[in-house]
Amino acid sequence: MLQQLYPLGQNAECKLEGCYLKFNLHQQAAKGEVFIYANYISSLDGRIALFDEHMGEYAVPKAIANPRDWRLYQELAGQSDVMLTSARYFRQLAVGKAQDLLPVGSGEKFADIELWRQAQGLKAQPDVVILSDSLDIPLPALEGLNDRNVFVFTSKQLKREKIEKLTDAGVTVLESDGPVTGQFIKSQLIQLGFKSAYMIAGPKVHHTLLVDDCLDELFLTSHFTILGGKNFHSVLDDELKAKPMQLQMLYLDNESQQMFMRFTYKDC
Ligand SMILES: NC(=O)c1ccc[n+]([C@@H]2O[C@H](COP(=O)([O-])OP(=O)(O)OC[C@H]3O[C@@H](n4cnc5c(N)ncnc54)[C@H](OP(=O)(O)O)[C@@H]3O)[C@@H](O)[C@H]2O)c1
Repeated sequence: MLQQLYPLGQNAECKLEGCYLKFNLHQQAAKGEVFIYANYISSLDGRIALFDEHMGEYAVPKAIANPRDWRLYQELAGQSDVMLTSARYFRQLAVGKAQDLLPVGSGEKFADIELWRQAQGLKAQPDVVILSDSLDIPLPALEGLNDRNVFVFTSKQLKREKIEKLTDAGVTVLESDGPVTGQFIKSQLIQLGFKSAYMIAGPKVHHTLLVDDCLDELFLTSHFTILGGKNFHSVLDDELKAKPMQLQMLYLDNESQQMFMRFTYKDC
């Protein structure tokens, strides 16, 4: 069970399963808008990823990743029309260095989320948007996405050959005139008809959206572990004018020693 610490009310306890599904994030966007939400798990000292010498890559530390947080990750994915991720993720996936984050509800444990999507009239799986300037996206890593629409958002450069390869593989490449900004991402998502977008990338994509005030909510799991380490990522690594956040919900998960928090980005 989870203990609800904020807002304080009569039903102070709730089951983990269903805790995030009840937010109905797919129905939050106003007409002609899209509702964009992000999700991270972090250590108490603010690390979402550490450099793993063995892998030669940054990765979510095993000391904080856990099945109860993963359940809520899946519930957030379940409410999305589209998942927003980075090319880096597909580069890691292609060499077996990334967990398969994209299918929603695969496996018996998450079958209820698949059924929930059906009942809500959502497609079996959310579509996928990949942010990339390099367009170094290994095609074999996209093979598991044949059942969805895949889009790549990139800035206009002379990359015709790479664009053609992606297009031939069934990917839609959308180019912005300048750098890919939060406004560009949001306006494209709206034009494509998406109502809810789940951002699962790291600090660069987060920054891109935040500087343009394009994010609506942040789901943050704070795991009661101090990791230390000099080579790490936090939820945001670049410069930003201090951003006030409004706490919406706070749950204590005694079983896995972590807190689940839901925030609104103010002034969105
Ligand atoms: N603990 C957690 O909850 C959590 C969540 C997410 C990620 N992570 C970890 O954080 C680390 C970094 O994740 P990440 O690499 O996905 O995150 P990222 O830093 O947000 O994204 C990096 C890549 O995305 C593309 N990109 C980002 N912003 C862009 C923009 N404005 N325009 C065009 N392309 C843009 C670039 O691709 P190109 O190089 O192709 O141009 C860039 O290399 C990973 O180790 C990951 O596992 C942890």
